[in-house]
Amino acid sequence: MTMQLKKQRLLVIGGTSGFGMAIARQALQEGADVHIIGHTAAHVTAAITQLGPSDHLTGTALDAQNLAQLKTFFAAQPAFDHVVSMLGGAMGGGFLDNSIAAIRQTVEDKFFANLQVAQLASHHLNQHGSLIFTSGAGGRPDNASGAIIGNQAINTMVVGLAVE
Ligand SMILES: NC(=O)c1ccc[n+]([C@@H]2O[C@H](COP(=O)([O-])OP(=O)(O)OC[C@H]3O[C@@H](n4cnc5c(N)ncnc54)[C@H](OP(=O)(O)O)[C@@H]3O)[C@@H](O)[C@H]2O)c1
Repeated sequence: MTMQLKKQRLLVIGGTSGFGMAIARQALQEGADVHIIGHTAAHVTAAITQLGPSDHLTGTALDAQNLAQLKTFFAAQPAFDHVVSMLGGAMGGGFLDNSIAAIRQTVEDKFFANLQVAQLASHHLNQHGSLIFTSGAGGRPDNASGAIIGNQAINTMVVGLAVE
């Protein structure tokens, strides 16, 4: 299915580098109004410069894992048509050679961070809008333990969200 992005309002959480920035660039080329979020203010400014300052591009620096900051952001914004989240990290190692804390943190960063985005963003979406999350396909349970759990949790979450 091709998504038509012309004049659509798109939010890219983690849009200041990597995959998220590439999504922002392509969406701008498709005629979308794009808002990028990054954690670091300097990265937001640099990304806007790199993407080519445009009336169709805005950005905010905030901690997208912080509930209060996310709530303040969404409350101040008109609704979005599409919200893309790139939140999540990586980790190496298996279940026996990592601490519980390290594995828990990776699941927190991948799954709970995105669940929080889903719970808030779902109230700030236009009709027929979409929520898009990023898991991953690299690694195996024995060498990327917490990341695999986090990715599988994201995949399960979207199955539930699609119905809800
Ligand atoms: N790279 C890979 O090979 C790979 C493979 C599979 C899946 N993935 C997944 O794809 C996603 C993106 O990967 P990437 O390589 O494109 O990452 P990246 O280049 O490191 O970009 C991460 C983006 O997220 C922002 N960000 C991180 N934490 C944030 C927070 N708490 N609040 C607001 N913004 C935050 C960063 O902003 P700042 O720079 O300001 O911190 C940056 O814009 C991740 O979920 C990763 O697990 C990556």
